[in-house]
Amino acid sequence: MTIRKAILPVAGLGTRFLPATKAMPKEMLTVVDRPLIQHVVDEAKQAGIEHFIFVTGRNKGVIEDHFDRQYELETTLAGKNRKADLDALAKDMPEAGQASFTRQQSPLGLGHAVWCAREIVGNEPFAVLLPDVLVQAPRGCLAQMMDAYNSLGDKANIIAVEEVPQDRVHMYGIVGQGKAKGNAFEITQMIEKPKQEEAPSNLSITGRYILQPEIFDVLATQERGAGGEIQLTDAMIRLAQQQPFYGVKFSGTSYDCGSKIGFLTANVAYALDRPDIAPAFREALKKLVN
Ligand code: G1P
Repeated sequence: MTIRKAILPVAGLGTRFLPATKAMPKEMLTVVDRPLIQHVVDEAKQAGIEHFIFVTGRNKGVIEDHFDRQYELETTLAGKNRKADLDALAKDMPEAGQASFTRQQSPLGLGHAVWCAREIVGNEPFAVLLPDVLVQAPRGCLAQMMDAYNSLGDKANIIAVEEVPQDRVHMYGIVGQGKAKGNAFEITQMIEKPKQEEAPSNLSITGRYILQPEIFDVLATQERGAGGEIQLTDAMIRLAQQQPFYGVKFSGTSYDCGSKIGFLTANVAYALDRPDIAPAFREALKKLVN
């Protein structure tokens, strides 16, 4: 079954970026000139996603505004004949009816945020993209996962993974690696934020998932796990008793934009990838570093 819908959990408080995120959602922080959330929506669109489900919270209204028209701005730009700017704005906007917003009323964890979207997803497989993570790749990370999904069959669950240094495994969900299946591999084990000695590998869950709707039944009955939160990883462990889970080692570079260093590095990397900015920016960087 084609994956048409994606859940984007955007309810987090962003306390690691205070005071920037006191009045503004962390998902609106910009990497070059696009908000984080727009980069992630771009990746989802490239993978063929048609419906974007934002799980929001209080103080996140600006995200809804970002994916809506801005008449005053459009009128001003039209008056100045700035057609290219108008076209760019129009291109980024979802079609009417293709964005849904639902609220996670209490911060109970990622699993709970995903569960909050169950009525909008309905009974079909779907993607989840965490906007804290940007993946820079010519073919986006979710598109690479779709390729794997199309060859692995309808009941497959797929997780993007990447290698992390051993001393960082406690910061992520970690998977165990089994038999290869084309470009993917069977996941033998999953554990959320393990101690170094308990980790089955150094393959971390990168924040991109393709999941079957049965995950909602598991999440509905779920108890709290690591950090006292309802964890998506724990629900996946339970679903893996009934359905296959595969890992995809995507090609590309990921940036953890939930951390200051990751966010700043992403800005540099994305600017260096922009033909209109890169030459001048490279010169400016050289001066700064020397
Ligand atoms: C979440 C997931 C974790 C994953 C990580 C990727 O954790 O629970 O499995 O590795 O995202 O960024 P969080 O970063 O929300 O604590």
